[in-house]
Amino acid sequence: MSGTGGGEVKRVVVKLSGSIFKADIEQSDLKPFVDVFSDLGKRGVKMVLVAGGGKNARRYIAAAKDMGADESTLDEVGIIVSRLNAMLLGAGFGGLAYPSVPTSLGEVAEAFEEKGIVVTGGLHPGQSTNATACLITERVRADLFLNTTSVDGVYTKDPKLSGDAEKLSTVTVEKLKEILSGSSMGAGTYELMDTVALKIIERSQIPSRIVLCSPEVIKQVLEGGDAGTLLVSR
Ligand code: UTP
Repeated sequence: MSGTGGGEVKRVVVKLSGSIFKADIEQSDLKPFVDVFSDLGKRGVKMVLVAGGGKNARRYIAAAKDMGADESTLDEVGIIVSRLNAMLLGAGFGGLAYPSVPTSLGEVAEAFEEKGIVVTGGLHPGQSTNATACLITERVRADLFLNTTSVDGVYTKDPKLSGDAEKLSTVTVEKLKEILSGSSMGAGTYELMDTVALKIIERSQIPSRIVLCSPEVIKQVLEGGDAGTLLVSR
């Protein structure tokens, strides 16, 4: 099937790990990503890029929490930072991308009809940018949801904590839920995938791949490669 390790992907939603939007970000951190996406866009691949919140989101959320803000306000703080990241990334595409950052699912869909590249951030409180990216994948009927992260796939245990963790080439949603059980769900603390994202993947049987957030890996996968871990509904 297209986007799952065979053939070039035509319509894709890519969640860009918040880790690339560093606190001291410079254009050289984003340029290699812009180059890869621009090249694919010129070759006819249509895409929505969803920027994560990254360290700045976590810093702003922590400071707002200390100031007494409630959880939904903290989510809104995270959303605004992810939109700022999206705006910065979008600036690199010139006329190739939709010129503003959509703020609703409907706007994303309209933008996607108009332009081959749309760059957006979070949309709704109470979820992660991963869940938002899954909703966008449903809405624009993309062939693939590519979740780029700070790890190179799904492991049997957290590879940052356990030396004997093994990487999986394919994982079912059920198995991933088991692996992630105990993950946090508070503002700014979502891990690999949150339960909202997994529910959407399951209900629409969205082909999804979890890969390292690197321009080379993204290029390889969008050209039909099989890096990382394929997530299947059942
Ligand atoms: P993310 O948690 O998605 O960004 O958004 P991140 O942590 O940088 O992503 P990773 O590390 O790549 O997975 C930051 C915070 O913004 C709020 C949530 O509080 C989230 O934890 N948010 C984001 C929302 O409430 N809704 C959204 O649609 C997106």
